[in-house]
Amino acid sequence: MTQVDTYLTADDAATALRSDAERGLTSTPKWLPPKWFYDARGSELFEDITRLPEYYPTRAEREILGARAAGIAAHTGAQTLVELGSGSSEKTRLLLDALRDNGSLRTFVPLDVSGTALREAVEAIDADYPGLTIHGVVGDFTEHLSRLPGEQPRLVAFLGGTIGNLLPAERAGFLHSVRDVLQPGEWLLLGTDLVKDEGTLVAAYDDAAGVTAEFNRNVLRVLNRELGADFDVEAFTHRAVWDAENEWIEMRLVATRAMHVRVPGIGLEVDFAEGEQMRTEISAKFRRDKVATELEAAGFVLDQWWTDEAGRFALSLARAV
Ligand SMILES: C[S@@+](CC[C@H](N)C(=O)[O-])C[C@H]1O[C@@H](n2cnc3c(N)ncnc32)[C@H](O)[C@@H]1O
Repeated sequence: MTQVDTYLTADDAATALRSDAERGLTSTPKWLPPKWFYDARGSELFEDITRLPEYYPTRAEREILGARAAGIAAHTGAQTLVELGSGSSEKTRLLLDALRDNGSLRTFVPLDVSGTALREAVEAIDADYPGLTIHGVVGDFTEHLSRLPGEQPRLVAFLGGTIGNLLPAERAGFLHSVRDVLQPGEWLLLGTDLVKDEGTLVAAYDDAAGVTAEFNRNVLRVLNRELGADFDVEAFTHRAVWDAENEWIEMRLVATRAMHVRVPGIGLEVDFAEGEQMRTEISAKFRRDKVATELEAAGFVLDQWWTDEAGRFALSLARAV
């Protein structure tokens, strides 16, 4: 049985986009939040990124899931697998297989802000997991957690290092809100990319084929379409910068010339100077201590910590206390 609920209606999404665009484009320096990358095209581009030679996080996380999924299933006995920011749910199949083989799995609850990606994933999983109840949710994981369905015990998976896209204060708020919806003894499985040499990190966000650049510029296409803006998309170049103090990668769009941009959907006109940089994403990188401390501050204990063989990426299994 499958069902897809929409917690984030088109109207809510339009209101949120207008508010984010207004705040970000009138700030100094300018910024835009990363969730607006993910229209249908942006979600496809992200899938392309996961297959790039430079983009190791997906392969590293898949390696860990391949080695640990059976143990996670046996240890948690989860009846419901919730996946936040689920995208294509490709790697998640390793968890679904293990929980099914363990005999505990009843319901899968993928949640994503991208309705297209979510519906495609629900259809594909439904075709391959007969008998599984799939309850998809089009929603925002920073807002809609309290309404999540599913029987206990639940395992909430937040994969792909997506938590790194939240600023530290947002991250703390997010972890608290996940904890608030869980009962003591339920589980969070968290994927985090790890601090490593700058060259490897920057290459992962600035690939030779230019796919990440297209993904980055896609946010301008979203603003052009949804807010009637007139960004000259090709006049912006992509840049990935390692911020060693904050231990995060910043993706930026750089104006190659001075531009005056109209954004009628929010009644705004903005100027970009030649060379001006606008932040479109942060991707924080972690160390074990930081993950454990942040989980504990939110009311979890770190039960297991696994990395891939090369030590590039980590999966944490945390228990709500
Ligand atoms: C970096 S991708 C990771 C996708 C997948 N989990 C993986 O590991 O490959 C981030 C995913 O989170 C979704 N997303 C981003 N911000 C979101 C938000 N605020 N609420 C819900 N989904 C969000 C995007 O649509 C996208 O599918």
